[in-house]
Amino acid sequence: MHKVNKVSDLRTIIRAWRSAGQSIALVPTMGNLHAGHLCLVTEAKKKADRVVVSIFVNPTQFGAGEDFESYPRTEYEDQTALNELGTDLLFQPEVSELYESDAKTVVSVLELSKRYCGASRPGHFDGVATVVCKLFNMVQPDVAVFGLKDFQQLTVIRTMARDLNIPVDIIGVETVREQSGLAMSSRNGYLTTEEKIVAAKLYQSLSIARDCILAGQLSFQEIECNALLFLRESGFKPDYFNVCRSGDMQSAIETDKDLVLLAAARLGKTRLIDNIYFSR
Ligand code: PAJ
Repeated sequence: MHKVNKVSDLRTIIRAWRSAGQSIALVPTMGNLHAGHLCLVTEAKKKADRVVVSIFVNPTQFGAGEDFESYPRTEYEDQTALNELGTDLLFQPEVSELYESDAKTVVSVLELSKRYCGASRPGHFDGVATVVCKLFNMVQPDVAVFGLKDFQQLTVIRTMARDLNIPVDIIGVETVREQSGLAMSSRNGYLTTEEKIVAAKLYQSLSIARDCILAGQLSFQEIECNALLFLRESGFKPDYFNVCRSGDMQSAIETDKDLVLLAAARLGKTRLIDNIYFSR
């Protein structure tokens, strides 16, 4: 596995692969890799000749008072896991390599970036869209692989690539979960043993809501209220619970068929998000 931290070195290797006619898949991450991340790499390997994984804890997507400084960094373990999976290149730049100190350009996907997680994390999706756009420009991948766990992030990135005519095929991979149903996340490491048991109720709230919608007895508003109550009674501080259309992520109306249920809630000092999408 190549390991580079300079954009120029990344471009040199990519150029050689391109001249040999090889296709390239990119998997952007912030490291502290778990089984969910590794599934993306496995998927990427099926889609292209070469797989590039980036590990970059992107400061512009963290708000003031968020966990940028304390975000788990596990360089050695990550490298070993990626190597074992047959990753071709690990790109792990410093912040100063990726951002000019007087950078003036931000990529912003309007409206969607201000809703749901964007409402409680102002600027978060601008940071995500900007760094992913930069990575797309650096790697120029044929395929880029992201997790459906971050459903809104995936929609923001798809919209950004569409609107900016970036020629990349974006693939979403199913959420990998613990046996309890808890979606794997680097932030699960912040949970205490007791909190980890409670945390599984976030997925439970989504599953119950989905079953209620499929049963067709309650309105979406009642389902959202019940879910918020269930989360509060389980010990969460819910941020939002919304029934949305999966295509454009607008609030759903009762006749919509393709839905995504989005939930975000705090448990102690950890903010967790999850979703379920389905058609009826
Ligand atoms: P990070 O949280 O490290 O996640 C990297 C990728 O792994 C994302 O596409 C995310 O959706 C996916 N992922 C996380 N948990 C998953 C799970 N349990 N199952 C399947 N996929 C999962 O998301 C980011 O980093 C950053 O915002 C990034 C896109 C890299 C931009 O900085």
